[in-house]
Amino acid sequence: MSKFYVTTPIYYVNDRPHIGHAYTTVLADVLARSHRSLSDATFFLTGTDEHGQKVQQAAEKRGVAPLAHCDETVVRFQELWNRLGITNDYFIRTTQENHKKIVAKIMQDLYDRDEIYKADYTGWYCVGCERFFTEKDLVDGKCPDCGRDVNAITESNYFFRMSKYQDWLIEYIQTHPDFILPAFRANETLGFLKKPLGDLCISRPKSRLSWGIELPFDPDYVCYVWFDALINYISGVGYGSDDEKFNAWWPASCHLIGKDILTTHSVYWPTMLKAIGLPMPQTIFAHGWWLTGNSKMSKSLGNVVNPMDMIDRAGVDAFRYFLLAEMSPGNDANFSEDSFISRYNSDLANDLGNLLSRVSKLTIRATGGEIPAPNELNEDDAELANAVNNAISSMECCLNSYKLDQGIDAAMNAVRAGNRYLEKCAPWTLAKNGDPARLHTVLHNAAEALCKVAVLLAPVMPEKMAELLNVLGAGQANINGIADLKNLKSVAGFVMKEASPLFPRIIVEEDAAAKAAPAPKAEKKAKAEKSAPAEAETPVNVVVTIDEFFKTQLKTAKVLSAEKVEGADKLLKLSIEVGSEIRQLVAGVAQFYSPEQITGKTIVIVANLKPAKIRGIESQGMLLAAKDGNNLKLVTIDGDMPSGISIG
Ligand code: MSP
Repeated sequence: MSKFYVTTPIYYVNDRPHIGHAYTTVLADVLARSHRSLSDATFFLTGTDEHGQKVQQAAEKRGVAPLAHCDETVVRFQELWNRLGITNDYFIRTTQENHKKIVAKIMQDLYDRDEIYKADYTGWYCVGCERFFTEKDLVDGKCPDCGRDVNAITESNYFFRMSKYQDWLIEYIQTHPDFILPAFRANETLGFLKKPLGDLCISRPKSRLSWGIELPFDPDYVCYVWFDALINYISGVGYGSDDEKFNAWWPASCHLIGKDILTTHSVYWPTMLKAIGLPMPQTIFAHGWWLTGNSKMSKSLGNVVNPMDMIDRAGVDAFRYFLLAEMSPGNDANFSEDSFISRYNSDLANDLGNLLSRVSKLTIRATGGEIPAPNELNEDDAELANAVNNAISSMECCLNSYKLDQGIDAAMNAVRAGNRYLEKCAPWTLAKNGDPARLHTVLHNAAEALCKVAVLLAPVMPEKMAELLNVLGAGQANINGIADLKNLKSVAGFVMKEASPLFPRIIVEEDAAAKAAPAPKAEKKAKAEKSAPAEAETPVNVVVTIDEFFKTQLKTAKVLSAEKVEGADKLLKLSIEVGSEIRQLVAGVAQFYSPEQITGKTIVIVANLKPAKIRGIESQGMLLAAKDGNNLKLVTIDGDMPSGISIG
């Protein structure tokens, strides 16, 4: 039996959960449910990150003790996870005694082994992100992550000797292709590791911050919140307190994280584990962001989508389905009510809902409810069986590569194949024309396809798929997961019930409905390709003022790596370094530069271009190139120049 241990980040207890948080937790839940359904021993950990300055400040503002503040706010997460049907095996809070004890024990051990030392330190501190930055990390003197003001602070602190693990970490990443996924995130980390890695400041003087875990060897300090938080992944499964449990689960199979916390997970955490003497997690998977109107959803921007509102509108399962089907986990996804309603109506109300209602009505009419045994099979039957078998193998494969959207897509393809099958075989005509042998085969095969798809989608929509299986009369048949599907001989003999609409259509006003209708595929593609830089039309001659010109930020950027975009001959996906930032950019230069030729070049980019999706991949900027018919040359810099330098 294999084992699967999955984690989510532990969320800042101060925040109100939004769909960004809900996404990671639902993704982890679907993975956990799927692995349970494959009979893998599974452990799913989530929780809250409760120490640090933001919590201390929020509690002070409210005039309550920090722990009392956490006790009140943690409930928001716990209630939402209950509502969303999250099946975590444990909920860790970093204020729990056991966790604090383990963090202290680890710090003492590292200190005793000289992995932690004391020194003076000057740095730039961002209160919002609770992180120190060096001078060169700052962007225009502000925090490189959130853009807010930073304060210069000099103080004595304790440091973890992270730098000594730099070479080991580079080699580890290079020799373990599944360690950081998607692969371009591994490249980002390797790009970050090209610069010398410093030691990590892991303490905060109590004079500045008292809400944290006290250093066991110096009571004037508390532990840096990230050092404390990352340890949850081992303290939550018994490290230092229950060896048997810990050995059963560690190393983790997958840490699911958002792309903004890649460095802490792919650099701090592995080096900490190495110093502690523990094996590495198998995979750190960084997903993209949920955006609204192309900006990251965040409390400070005031554009958060409250999951409870969406659940009230369409139900828990439809919300879970939307989150997973809509986001391809490596990339960003845009949330809009239109896209939610459009997907709900087309995939769930139409495709899946229709198939169920047709199959149940036709069977009840033909046999009174009992699913008949099939007779001789023909090509149409084989085509449907193929679509279903593809869906099963695709779902299994996508579970391992974390591309659940593709597994869901394959399952929905099987549903659409089921509807096409009914239209082609026309059981209503077979019933009228008196061909019971063929009618029985068609009803059986359509019901079997539906049954298998329902089992595949059960981890995503547990309640609705249980309802569907119940309507099919499969409720008592002990088909609890993909593993059981392989043993399912036939659905003949199940007694079907009348189906009430599983996903009632969401009715929208006419104009809203027109907006919600997805653009035809060809049109979407044309739009996407047009926004590829080298394809852009030549602008007409217009005069701009110097102020207008300087609205466009041109910067130097170094190409760290490049790869072809699958299915698009003209596009390359680049990972570029812009100062301390790593970005992804899609450029229409593949016919003129191979990935090897472009890698290592210092190019010029428009750095403040609104991110756009090209072939479903987010492009964060645009490179400059001169194109003359069939000739294209990149704009580069005449001589050596670091990346991130403004041009003008
Ligand atoms: N407390 C740290 C994590 C410590 S893990 C040892 C933290 N918390 S957080 O609450 O700010 O963020 C938690 C997760 O939510 C991160 O993975 C982050 O990427 C994710 N998201 C926050 N906003 C998001 C979106 N708009 N979209 C998708 N996920 C995003 O960081």
